[in-house]
Amino acid sequence: MGNIVFITGATSGFGRAAARRFAAAGWSLVLSGRRLERLQALQEELQGKVPVHIAALDVRDAEAVRQVVAALPEGFRQVRALINNAGLALAPQPAQQVALEDWHTMIDTNVTGLVNVTHALLPTLIASGQGASIVNLGSVAGHWPYPGGHVYGATKAFVEQFGYNLRCDLLGTGVRVTDIAPGMAETEFTLVRTKGDQAASDRLYRGTTPLTAEDIAEQIFYVASLPAHININRLEVMPTRQAWQPFAVDRD
Ligand SMILES: NC(=O)c1ccc[n+]([C@@H]2O[C@H](COP(=O)([O-])OP(=O)(O)OC[C@H]3O[C@@H](n4cnc5c(N)ncnc54)[C@H](OP(=O)(O)O)[C@@H]3O)[C@@H](O)[C@H]2O)c1
Repeated sequence: MGNIVFITGATSGFGRAAARRFAAAGWSLVLSGRRLERLQALQEELQGKVPVHIAALDVRDAEAVRQVVAALPEGFRQVRALINNAGLALAPQPAQQVALEDWHTMIDTNVTGLVNVTHALLPTLIASGQGASIVNLGSVAGHWPYPGGHVYGATKAFVEQFGYNLRCDLLGTGVRVTDIAPGMAETEFTLVRTKGDQAASDRLYRGTTPLTAEDIAEQIFYVASLPAHININRLEVMPTRQAWQPFAVDRD
């Protein structure tokens, strides 16, 4: 039987590009996300090449996650790679202007959702053994503070530390864990963050060269397809045209 990858957030951006990248290498796909019609379109596109199972899923719902994993059909059960990609940023404003609900949504999705899926698939990945992978989508926002990063950056710091701690507990099982931390990448990310402001999204990416979804999909595929004895702990990837600025100083 071929390799099977389980991707969360496969309806857009990195997740959708990763589905195409794994399919190109012959992996069977389990694709999830909330937007069923997008999952169906991707299934339609890829199922001539590889077996594709889709599951409409909100990762924040632990019971729904458990049911999706329990109901994986024959041929999709021995998941070899989990791509914990579903996530979002909201509220680019300063912390003191943000609705508490937006903070909760980021924590519920990026932290609780990611642990829900990981918990449900750990037994399967451990059974898969040597060369199985968990690839978590962190962010440079989890390493570097910036204005408006508040809870989003903190959720991605959680993702990174959770991955390192998982590695300790999974030592000896053969299961690898990687934190991929992208910088600026053009996907629907900013559209979601600004609650549908296409002009703001276009402005952010205009005049520079952001990463593409395909760039990150390539990195995801790379870490999951390395020889079984290699674990990339953390892969931070930025566009060449993005860097840091000096410390900010408040002056009279
Ligand atoms: N783009 C960047 O600059 C960037 C940089 C660093 C890290 N990241 C991280 O990379 C990951 C993918 O982001 P992207 O840039 O590809 O953004 P995107 O194009 O907006 O894709 C996000 C995906 O997450 C899914 N998702 C969101 N909430 C969900 C929920 N509650 N349950 C299930 N799926 C959910 C969305 O699917 P549905 O809406 O259909 O559910 C969508 O498929 C995220 O974790 C993000 O934080 C992005």
